Amino acid sequence: MIAPSILAADFANLQRDLEMINRSEADYVHVDIMDGLFVPNISFGIPVCEAAHRHATKPLDVHLMIVDPDRYLEAFRTAGAHILTVHYEACTHLHRTVQRIRELGARPGVALNPHTPVEVLSEILPDLALVLVMSVNPGFGGQKFIENTYRKVERLAALRQASEADFLIEIDGGVNAQNAALLSQAGADVLVAGNFVFSAPDPEATIADLKKKTR
Ligand code: DX5
Ligand code: ZN
Repeated sequence: MIAPSILAADFANLQRDLEMINRSEADYVHVDIMDGLFVPNISFGIPVCEAAHRHATKPLDVHLMIVDPDRYLEAFRTAGAHILTVHYEACTHLHRTVQRIRELGARPGVALNPHTPVEVLSEILPDLALVLVMSVNPGFGGQKFIENTYRKVERLAALRQASEADFLIEIDGGVNAQNAALLSQAGADVLVAGNFVFSAPDPEATIADLKKKTR
């Protein structure tokens, strides 16, 4: 599956870019929320998520790169989040946060920074709908893919197989036509792509190409 990140869209033409995603073979719309604290960058917030929800026909996959995300779970759910992903590194009581996301009617995801081993999630994997493996340090689009990600995805896929868990494995950062097939072979289900899609001459065809590589 493919989740184009609107962080790389033209914010002055967000409706146009969302309509491109609607027409495309994309499965989700990836929405990157950055607070300038958990990550060194500020992206956009709840009103933009609401606006995306009004125009998107695909489910919103909301990636919260914010400290203490519990404060905003309900607001993002009301703003249309279908998947709500919080960072492992930003949650003291991750189990409670995950239950809260489910109570709100969203699908819970947990994201891991590049330095965080997948094994830290072993006790909570059965509660998750998605694990997001960061393949760059979060905060900016257009960064270089970290090669160690393949090993992490393989280990996470092995944990999934060995357990009752049934979560999607999502990769975020530096995804392109070179690494898409390898990631999918390693066990990834959803690939986020920002710059690779939106800086292409034909973003819609680029989404279709990426999708072919994951089949
Ligand atoms: C990075 C974000 C990513 C970003 C990916 O912190 O979480 O979702 O938009 O952008 P690219 O595909 O350009 O690396
Ligand atoms: Zn993201």
